[in-house]
Amino acid sequence: MRKKKIVVLTGAGISAESGLSTFRDSGGLWEGHNVMDVASPEGWRRNRKLVLEFYNQRRRQLRNAVPNAAHTELVRLEEKYDVTVITQNVDDLHERAGSSSIIHLHGELNKSQSTADPDLIYDLEGEDISIGDKCELGSQLRPFIVWFGELVPKMEEAVMETLKAEIFIVIGTSLVVYPAAGLVAYTGNEIPRYLIDPSEPELNLSYSNLTHIKSKATSGTKELVDRLMK
Ligand code: OAD
Repeated sequence: MRKKKIVVLTGAGISAESGLSTFRDSGGLWEGHNVMDVASPEGWRRNRKLVLEFYNQRRRQLRNAVPNAAHTELVRLEEKYDVTVITQNVDDLHERAGSSSIIHLHGELNKSQSTADPDLIYDLEGEDISIGDKCELGSQLRPFIVWFGELVPKMEEAVMETLKAEIFIVIGTSLVVYPAAGLVAYTGNEIPRYLIDPSEPELNLSYSNLTHIKSKATSGTKELVDRLMK
């Protein structure tokens, strides 16, 4: 039997209860840093060591984090639905929870990328990147993260998946960073759309067929998945 297609767009809020901090809840500072110093090509040009150390710390923190009930509830949904998770998160908690189809819009913390050829991507297996670590072409490795001002190579694939959605779920994102936030506009007014976030999003809530579940990711996702599995 054909399974209905569900597309889930997730942001930092889904990993908050796993102990990973969000971006904007901390007042524009991310773990004490100005986001543009550690998440832009300019920041990288100014101070590579600072940028590498910043992501090394995030990677170490991720090693100690575990998926929470929101991540695992999305896996449960696969028993009945064809689920694609589009995440803005660079953590691997959806993978570790067991989701089978994941698009990482903003890159992956556990991978490094060549600064000479963006197609050369390597698994880090939790290890640091240091100054002097090079790709096979001899250029410095950088974190495999899409920084502000860079293209989002996976966006086209994300749009194609979103266009197929018969149910669309947004969890834990402030929806202020484009192009990711624009994905909502690719879903039809005729399909059910859900938003799980304890705060009001920036999103124009006049969207019809949009149900806001004003809860944290773990309880809100469980509530919604229970409803969709009935
Ligand atoms: P934000 O920090 O902008 O937004 C986090 C959202 O999660 C907010 O709407 C919070 O209300 C919500 N939230 C907080 N705790 C939650 C919880 N326990 N359960 C559910 N929701 C909760 O993070 P993103 O929208 O993911 O980009 O940020 C988007 C992008 O901006 C990131 O991918 C990153 C950043 O700069 C790059 O690194 C390129």
